[in-house]
Amino acid sequence: MDIDSVLEKVISWVKEVGKLQLQRLETNLNISTKSGEFDLVTEVDQLSEEILIGHILNEFPNHSILSEENGALKHHSKFQWIIDPLDGTTNYIHGFPIFSISVALKYCDELIMGVIYVPRLDELYVALKGRGAYLNYQRIEVSTSTSLESSLLSTGFPYNRGITSNNNLNFFNQLVPKIRGIRRTGSAAYDLCNVATGRFDGYWELSLNSWDIAAGKLLVEEAKGKVISLKVGEDSLLVAANQMICDLLLTEFEADLLKS
Ligand code: IPD
Ligand code: CA
Ligand code: CA
Ligand code: CA
Repeated sequence: MDIDSVLEKVISWVKEVGKLQLQRLETNLNISTKSGEFDLVTEVDQLSEEILIGHILNEFPNHSILSEENGALKHHSKFQWIIDPLDGTTNYIHGFPIFSISVALKYCDELIMGVIYVPRLDELYVALKGRGAYLNYQRIEVSTSTSLESSLLSTGFPYNRGITSNNNLNFFNQLVPKIRGIRRTGSAAYDLCNVATGRFDGYWELSLNSWDIAAGKLLVEEAKGKVISLKVGEDSLLVAANQMICDLLLTEFEADLLKS
């Protein structure tokens, strides 16, 4: 497989989907719920995913695909695509301009390509295994912050926050007094992009799915950052940051968990 020509194709696919999302933004959307009252989906999520899957299967009919709205399509292939067609559905529904398209490719269970496109900002993030991370074709790297006091962090809150054992408010309360600032973009993929560029020094979130994370994980790693996924009770916790801030965050979370 010529990874560079595949990358060019993926870039054209995410840009096509981005154009559709901008055209349909702030139009009358059909909104339905999924796992609960805060977990929403629109016809734009579904249509975006259909377009991406259509392109992939047209080019690579034997590849496997894991996508948010359609689940797993399993083929006997070492290649697997992981797709979040619209990351930031709640933002999209409210006309808040932060939403993204996230497409990752794995070979033998290892991430080899990650592409995230943020249509409203026209920001294209690309990572290839071993070849670095890029924003609009310019190399990016994580921040050099070495303390929590000088760090701008971001986080998110799960859709099942009313019922989950850990709704992130404990971690939030623990960290907010110690850090320079906190942001909540509403798109996990975009949060990871901002860690990769160093705009955010770190990011954490509970209960994410692999389609939220896959492309952004490779992006942060190729930007010389660290991404850790661990179990906290029944939930998964993702921490992404530069190496030093990642370790400091893990220490904070461990301290918080020991208290409870
Ligand atoms: C959501 C966004 C959000 C995060 C949620 C995700 P979706 O994805 O990434 O930032 O807090 O946990 O599920 O549903 O908009 O694709
Ligand atoms: Ca969703
Ligand atoms: Ca998502
Ligand atoms: Ca989504």
